[in-house]
Amino acid sequence: MISGLHADAFVDAAAPGRALTVRKALMHDISPILNLINGYAAEGIMLPRTEFELSEAIRDFTVVLAGNDLLGCGALHFYSPTVAEIRSLAVHEHAKKLGVGRNLVEALVAESENYELAAVFAFTYVVEFFQKVGFHQVERGALPLKAWKDCVRCPKFQACDEIAVLRVLRPGHWTEAAMPDDQLIQIPTPRSQP
Ligand SMILES: CC(C)(COP(=O)(O)OP(=O)(O)OC[C@H]1O[C@@H](n2cnc3c(N)ncnc32)[C@H](O)[C@@H]1OP(=O)(O)O)[C@@H](O)C(=O)NCCC(=O)NCCS
Repeated sequence: MISGLHADAFVDAAAPGRALTVRKALMHDISPILNLINGYAAEGIMLPRTEFELSEAIRDFTVVLAGNDLLGCGALHFYSPTVAEIRSLAVHEHAKKLGVGRNLVEALVAESENYELAAVFAFTYVVEFFQKVGFHQVERGALPLKAWKDCVRCPKFQACDEIAVLRVLRPGHWTEAAMPDDQLIQIPTPRSQP
């Protein structure tokens, strides 16, 4: 059961015989998760995280492992009774294109369905990857106000060039969940290049 602390196993199609495990993160995963995320943060691909933040949010995280080696992580962050964000999705360079990212997203989507969510979204630079795993691009303004609460703290807030992608899980419920216009905030647009 992916959404519990029990592990699910799958065999990596690109490396037959190598069993990978998908499970919810535990406290001892914090250090390897930080190494992974902050490695990409140093390249400007992701936002850096601290041990304090990770400890606080560890229950959001799902990880994929080969034996004891953490290959990837991703988090499901609830915003409302109907919608959550997939965030902090990362796969180690050496484990990319092996299906780890897809398995992480599917685990987080299954968790979303268990929680009866209507939709999940992400802000990303890798739109093509998200399209391959069932998401479609949306206008940022289609997402509810609460989705922007963390953006205000982000150093890229005034120059955000990430793209919003959405996977609707329960279409009728998502339509009902859509926020009225007056609950949307002004969306920052990318600065034009000099
Ligand atoms: C994006 C990322 C999570 C993908 O993980 P991954 O394990 O390599 O992805 P998968 O192997 O599961 O790929 C699933 C599909 O998406 C495709 N895909 C993966 N990365 C892609 C990319 N950057 N661009 C286009 N397609 C991509 C794969 O080819 C595969 O397609 P297929 O089903 O037709 O074979 C990984 O590249 C990563 O960690 N990137 C750096 C951090 C990052 O950008 N995170 C996203 C933050 S929102």
